[in-house]
Amino acid sequence: MPAQTPQGFFITGTDTGVGKTVVAAGLAALFKKNGLDAGVMKPIQTGCIIRRGSRIAPDARFLARAVKADDPMDLICPYRFKIPAAPMVAAEYEGTTIDLDRIENAYRTLASRHRIMVVEGIGGLLTPITPTETVVDLARRLRLPLIIVAHTRLGMLNHALLTVRHAQQTGASVLGIIFNRLGGASRGIAEKTNPEVFSRLCSVPILGTIPHLSGINVEAGRLGRVRGLGHYLNEGLHHLGIKLNP
Ligand SMILES: Nc1ncnc2c1ncn2[C@@H]1O[C@H](COP(=O)(O)OP(=O)(O)O)[C@@H](O)[C@H]1O
Ligand SMILES: [Mg+2]
Repeated sequence: MPAQTPQGFFITGTDTGVGKTVVAAGLAALFKKNGLDAGVMKPIQTGCIIRRGSRIAPDARFLARAVKADDPMDLICPYRFKIPAAPMVAAEYEGTTIDLDRIENAYRTLASRHRIMVVEGIGGLLTPITPTETVVDLARRLRLPLIIVAHTRLGMLNHALLTVRHAQQTGASVLGIIFNRLGGASRGIAEKTNPEVFSRLCSVPILGTIPHLSGINVEAGRLGRVRGLGHYLNEGLHHLGIKLNP
């Protein structure tokens, strides 16, 4: 267990659509509710919603709502692209490039305003940001340890073990994994046994398993029961070096 409360966490996932935004928002709200002032960031959003000519970044908006952030959107989400594609592709399509220095500067400003930062990644660790940099390079640049969000469907073991292995090979620190039961799908043998089998194959701590929480809609900006996510992470918080007020 880390000796001090860490500066922040980088929430990555085994894929897009696995619950990174839900977990990041739930964690940040949990910290805030317990007296740790949490800042949030979604450094790059692709597939923005266009409304009256301006670009709305749904993940960044959801994170900001979860903690009632009053930081400017240009700091919370410095890069907002229209095309729903990997950041490198979305940037190329708009004839621009992404500069990790700009993201780091925004991050440092937010980190100086808040006690703890929760940063949501984009896609998975190997998602390209520039031709030479991926999401894991961004996490390392921000010097943030990783929390991996994984679905529990068939295929999870491969996705989760690949993610852990790549993080370790690139020198990123992995604090733990959170399983997200996205709901809807019928529970077959794989879904029932995957978390337990993962724990036999990999020493990364399991921080918790999140059930389907009602009323959440990231795209529509509806928080639903996202603030209740902490109930499923109680024991996992020890691995994060977080001590919440009783
Ligand atoms: N535990 C959950 N309970 C209810 N809905 C969820 C849960 N996890 C994810 N979702 C829904 O699934 C979709 C994908 O989740 P999201 O957090 O946006 O994934 P990611 O950030 O990895 O792309 C969203 O529409 C979100 O509302
Ligand atoms: Mg997201």
